[in-house]
Amino acid sequence: MRTRREFVQLAAVVAAAGSLGREVRWASSENVQALQTGTPAPTDAHVDVSGAKSLRAHAEARGLLVGCAAVPGRLDGERDYADLVAAQANILVAENAMKWKALRPAPDKFDFRGADAILAFASSHGQKVRGHNLCWHEALPDWFDGTVTKDNARQILTEHIRTVAGRYAGKLHSWDVVNEAIDMKSGHPDGLRKSPWLELVGPDYIDVAFRTAREADPVALLTYNDYGIEEESAEQTAKRERVLLLVQGMKKRGVPIDAVGVQSHLSASDPLPGAGLRDFVRELERMKLQVVVTELDVNERTLEGPVSDRDAEVARVYKNYVTMMVAEPNVSAVLTWGITDRYTWLDAPKYERPDGQPQRCLPFDADYQPAPAFFALRDAVDSRRPKG
Ligand code: G3I
Repeated sequence: MRTRREFVQLAAVVAAAGSLGREVRWASSENVQALQTGTPAPTDAHVDVSGAKSLRAHAEARGLLVGCAAVPGRLDGERDYADLVAAQANILVAENAMKWKALRPAPDKFDFRGADAILAFASSHGQKVRGHNLCWHEALPDWFDGTVTKDNARQILTEHIRTVAGRYAGKLHSWDVVNEAIDMKSGHPDGLRKSPWLELVGPDYIDVAFRTAREADPVALLTYNDYGIEEESAEQTAKRERVLLLVQGMKKRGVPIDAVGVQSHLSASDPLPGAGLRDFVRELERMKLQVVVTELDVNERTLEGPVSDRDAEVARVYKNYVTMMVAEPNVSAVLTWGITDRYTWLDAPKYERPDGQPQRCLPFDADYQPAPAFFALRDAVDSRRPKG
């Protein structure tokens, strides 16, 4: 017998799911308990989102790319994970496998095994791949400091890009050529981040990276990717303006750039992005640039209350945000940063929930079951107007 409390909780869950169009087929009180504690729901809660009901099928019907960051070791070794990624995504990006740290075990060595595995998986499942990334201040190999100097940095950067972008030339949808180059706190007059690349190559490192990438791969969409440019706060508005100035400057100088990546690491407790981001996307459209939502997730560390309430709030953010973004015709792809709560960078100590429960920030829960965020995302994809 269920207690009255369980009935009330179940009703709340059903209401939250129902408002998102989710079919609920639960019977047992363990499900209620599971939702309370954050433990995976038992199998009778499973909802079929395969085939025509998948995110991928809904996106393909609307000419949209939808996918996620993926990890090669899991694609190879974890059947549930691989099946989910294959079923739900029509575009992948390597969460870490194409970063310098993964590709460059030593100054004179490249290790392409992880990156190649992502491409092989994508190829066998008819998926596109984004490259992430060719130039970033993080995820540099340990040998970087001490080996890369002002004398050789330009050459090392261009050689890296020639080798990596050259290897995958013609096979990628896009490259994040430069990642996170703007940092308003750095005090640089152009808002450029105090990164090793700025210090060792100089402010033209961004132009150099894009020009080299275009020579190495004339097909991939060359993308500038950044975070903290989604919201309406003064800080994010100022950063967004800086990114726009950067891109406008590149266009004026004839630097090849095709797209801007809006990372979209959102927080459930922050006000939703709005007109500022929309205007930014439209300004980029006027410059004939695509926009990619590159790393979407919703940090819910500050949300309190039962899991059903947290899930509903996270879903609300997915629905509103993605609906707003895909209403803009130059937004061509939406990727989440991971696919299942089982694996998310937001479980790092810095972002841990104060109650110690795992984050519920992605479309599928830790047991690979669709969360309310999945249905919210799929509804948002459905709102995309067909081209033409
Ligand atoms: O692979 C090693 C493992 O061998 C070792 O035992 C373990 C010990 O900590 O570390 C593992 O490497 C970690 C790696 O993730 C794989 O899990 C690194 O320490 C850790 O720094 C790395 O973090 C990644 C981070 O970028 C830095 O590269 C996150 O997974 C990844 O989600 C995150 O992604 C970034 C995007 O590239 C750019 N935008 C922001 C986004 C989130 O920070």
